[in-house]
Amino acid sequence: MAFSQCVGNDAWRQTMLEEMKRELSFYPDVQFIYRDANGSNERQVAQISDLMRRHVDLLIVSPNETQPLTPIVDSVFREKIPVIVTDRKTGSGLYHAYVGADNVAIGRLAGQYIHQLSSKRLNIGMISGLGGSSASIERQRGLRKVVDSLPSMRIGIALEGDWTKETAYRLAKANLSELLKQDVVLAFNDQMAKGVQQAYTEAGHTDRKILGIDALPGEGNGLEAVNKGVLYASLLYPTGGAEAIRTAIAILEKKPFIRDNILGTVVIDHTNAALMALQSQKIKDQQEDIDKRQQLIATQQEVYKNQRTTLNTLAVS
Ligand code: FRU
Repeated sequence: MAFSQCVGNDAWRQTMLEEMKRELSFYPDVQFIYRDANGSNERQVAQISDLMRRHVDLLIVSPNETQPLTPIVDSVFREKIPVIVTDRKTGSGLYHAYVGADNVAIGRLAGQYIHQLSSKRLNIGMISGLGGSSASIERQRGLRKVVDSLPSMRIGIALEGDWTKETAYRLAKANLSELLKQDVVLAFNDQMAKGVQQAYTEAGHTDRKILGIDALPGEGNGLEAVNKGVLYASLLYPTGGAEAIRTAIAILEKKPFIRDNILGTVVIDHTNAALMALQSQKIKDQQEDIDKRQQLIATQQEVYKNQRTTLNTLAVS
């Protein structure tokens, strides 16, 4: 089983990989090949071609940008190698299964949430993600649908980021006065929202409404930022790592599987951030407990194997 990740070095995708590995630990016979394209379309295409040459039995892929990745993923599909697309999508719809949240719905929900923040006119500063990635295109489509249907809402400034904090920080610094004229800023992920927040703080503005997407638990991530009041709100974007592996196993074992696995979302703000943080800590503790038990079983199996070898040797001598 191979997994082609578009970019591996951010916390959200590291969490996805951890979830995958935890789920894979229940299937010790599966060999897992991981490739990180480091944000390069060309590298991801080359890595997938190489995986095909290695005759993998199944490919999980999170495509960096839609158009450049569509032909190679389509050719894997046409070779009859099962393909699971996760988080971002290709352009053709040629895949065996999809695992991820509905990004149009996320954009729409963000718009609806912003709408109910005020009965007055609302200007939104929008920082989208990498232009050719489906998550950014779809979030924008959902947001614009809501904004276009409501005369009291307007996108006052639209800036294109690349999902990273650094770029969003630079963009925010360069467009500070325009952004400050907006009532809220919606960045398409929490890392970019934190970039904007940093630029604002440096300019002495700490009371502005900045919203993000992901609400990832853990230190330095979105959920914590909302909980601390650093970000005003975030929308949960589950990584789907465990679901991707479960779907992959079902396909490999020729069991029934769901083609479109749409993961749920929810708005996180000051009303529920503490509860969410508490719940995710509890889940983390339980997962660590499962990890420990698995390690214990593995050690005991090793001891048992050694004892049997000793017994066999004794019987022979
Ligand atoms: C992580 C990320 C997330 C975002 C998703 C969109 O690389 O930028 O923050 O929600 O990708 O595909």
